[in-house]
Amino acid sequence: MERIKAEKKARELLAQMTLEEKIGQLNQAGTTMICTLPGIEADIDTWITDTMEGRMSEAELKRRLAMCEEDLKLDETQAGEIGSFVNLDDDQKLIQVVEAAQNSRCKIPLLLGADVIRGYRTLFPTPLAMSCGWDMDLHRALARTAKKEALASGINWVFGPMLDIARDARWGRIVESPGEDPYMASEIAKAMVEEYHTDDGDGTLICTAKHFLAYGAVSGGQDYNTVSISRQQLYETYLPPFRAAVDAGVDCVMSAFHDLNGVPCACDKELLTDLLRGEMGFDGFVVSDAEAVKQCVPHGIAENEAEAAKLCLLAGNDIDMSSYDYKKYLKKLVEDGELEETAIDRAVERVLEKKFEYDLFEKYYYYDEDIVRNKVFTEEHRRCSREVAKRTIVLLKNEGAALPIVGKKKLLIIGELADDKEALTGPWAFTGDSNKTVTIVEGIRRGAPKGIEVLYQKGFGVHDNQEGFEAALAAAREADFVVAVAGETAFMSGEASSRASLHLAGAQETFLRKLAKINVPKTVLLVNGRPLSIRFLKEHPGINAIVETWHLGTESGNAVADVLFGKYNPGAKLAVTFANEAGQEPMYYNHPNTGKPGGSFKFTSKYQDVPIEPLYPFGYGLSYTTFAYSDLEVLTPRVKKREALKCRVTIENTGTYFGEEVVQLYTHDRTASCVRPVKELKRFARIALEPGEKKAVEFTVPATELGFYNRECEYVLEAGGFDLYVGPSSAEGLLGEFYIVE
Ligand code: GLC
Repeated sequence: MERIKAEKKARELLAQMTLEEKIGQLNQAGTTMICTLPGIEADIDTWITDTMEGRMSEAELKRRLAMCEEDLKLDETQAGEIGSFVNLDDDQKLIQVVEAAQNSRCKIPLLLGADVIRGYRTLFPTPLAMSCGWDMDLHRALARTAKKEALASGINWVFGPMLDIARDARWGRIVESPGEDPYMASEIAKAMVEEYHTDDGDGTLICTAKHFLAYGAVSGGQDYNTVSISRQQLYETYLPPFRAAVDAGVDCVMSAFHDLNGVPCACDKELLTDLLRGEMGFDGFVVSDAEAVKQCVPHGIAENEAEAAKLCLLAGNDIDMSSYDYKKYLKKLVEDGELEETAIDRAVERVLEKKFEYDLFEKYYYYDEDIVRNKVFTEEHRRCSREVAKRTIVLLKNEGAALPIVGKKKLLIIGELADDKEALTGPWAFTGDSNKTVTIVEGIRRGAPKGIEVLYQKGFGVHDNQEGFEAALAAAREADFVVAVAGETAFMSGEASSRASLHLAGAQETFLRKLAKINVPKTVLLVNGRPLSIRFLKEHPGINAIVETWHLGTESGNAVADVLFGKYNPGAKLAVTFANEAGQEPMYYNHPNTGKPGGSFKFTSKYQDVPIEPLYPFGYGLSYTTFAYSDLEVLTPRVKKREALKCRVTIENTGTYFGEEVVQLYTHDRTASCVRPVKELKRFARIALEPGEKKAVEFTVPATELGFYNRECEYVLEAGGFDLYVGPSSAEGLLGEFYIVE
């Protein structure tokens, strides 16, 4: 339904609603698990914590939860006291709450929201891995597949894309982020919002830009911690992807947990109303993060939860996710004259407008087994996930062309992660089923060329137990190629998963140092959510190759095998910097130069105990072939402010494999009224080249994209000289120059 009509319908309906029904639309409920198991402490939170910290298997958690009763809050829904649900993704249960809403007095349909971050039932790589693909078509493929599966299953609202720029690998949610670059994150925002809003015949999804704002800048990389940064830094680094999402028409913005420069985002009127709606022109609705309304009390900004509810609503936070404070307190606040009912009306109108706009009053959800069978977790979706996954795998090291594996007879896989479906699936996979994930062991066994014997030894895992070391090392001495799988479990990154050390946990490093001494060609596969401190792997001559496989989701093992056996030549590049040590974090490529840039002279900006350069730079990734860059031409050496920069470069595949290269364009504003980053990504293109093939790549950048936000947060474009780099990463490239002229 077009917006103008939806607004009219919303106003008409609002006029018929009671105060309780209005507040109901602002109340987002989660279901409650009630444990009735005899003799088992009904402490669901402890079970979930135990699972995420490895003390209970996911299978055991699911077994226990399956024996609990789930309170679907049907009475409250039928009474019109609930307007939406969070993460209720069971087909059969969804239909029950839908029926209950249908039987309410106003029959207002529910928003059924879920964390569809990387697919719904068919799981794709984690968002950080996706960003390493440097290809918006990959994000569109994910969004298209997730949209089809979610809509078929009754979900009409996704809590994504997550758009938090992340520069600190200590922060567990870096795994869920679009990486460290504002331009790339903005492209991803645009691609995913547009895809969720494209009707391929199944309808369109309400989508959410989260978490507003600057959640990735939590102090110390410690989740939920305070954020103190300049407004200019907000505008320069953290706001761009949200601007892109708003400009693309995103329906919802989720406010973040943390306090930003002294005010919790959930109750920050300057943020949610003045900036988001006033300056950026956002016209959808705002939802809080889980229980963030009530968290205003421990934040110390509200005396009690009633005050928290009032502050958040007045700030522009329309829906209260699962703290129930709006439901508990808003009515009395109005009755006591402490809150104008018009403030509630304004929020309710936004929610109703969205429900009318998406025709939810007409599109009644009903569970249809055939629809689900034909549209969810299909072979086509799995194939898509595999095609995308292999394009996100980053080849970090490949000494002596150890990879791809060819001409070997006995291949040994070592590491518990190689056979751990949950770990290979990774975090933010609750709507999927990790039991359906193809493990690395399964994928290699299926994908190995005829004649290769594939053996598997657990050997080591993400713990301190060394009992399996000797048997695995002995088996390695008998093999002619070894694949060792190290990294993180599914819950070592993600929400509430900050780490002070980025080293491989447990005795993994101990094992790999022993393995490195055995004279057999070997690669280490990393299964991890965040950049890790793996300097010894990079530098050790006994480690021939390193492949960053992240958490690839449902088709993990198949995508890894495609790359290991050369069926697919890896072409991905890092979308985030790998620091040498956690002590260097936050470490990112687009940093100012300082007055004493790090160098050999003592009195320059650096750490004494690690190299100045990152372990692996933003934009870095190898291939089984090689590429040569030549003939950089700056076609517009002088660019007027209303014109565009144009440049052209030639890339040649100088190796023997077909391959894909991500050509990257960076600029550097040499002198400006504020210090500028030494490099800023402005364009990129992933191109395919046959061996010996050459291609010319041309980039065009409107001069308006070459400005910056000054200390007054005004966007300015200043005349002057720029350096221009075109190359395979942020650390190398052909150098050119141009001038912005008045
Ligand atoms: C979580 C996350 C948020 C998610 C929400 C619902 O705490 O911060 O990203 O969408 O709650 O699960």
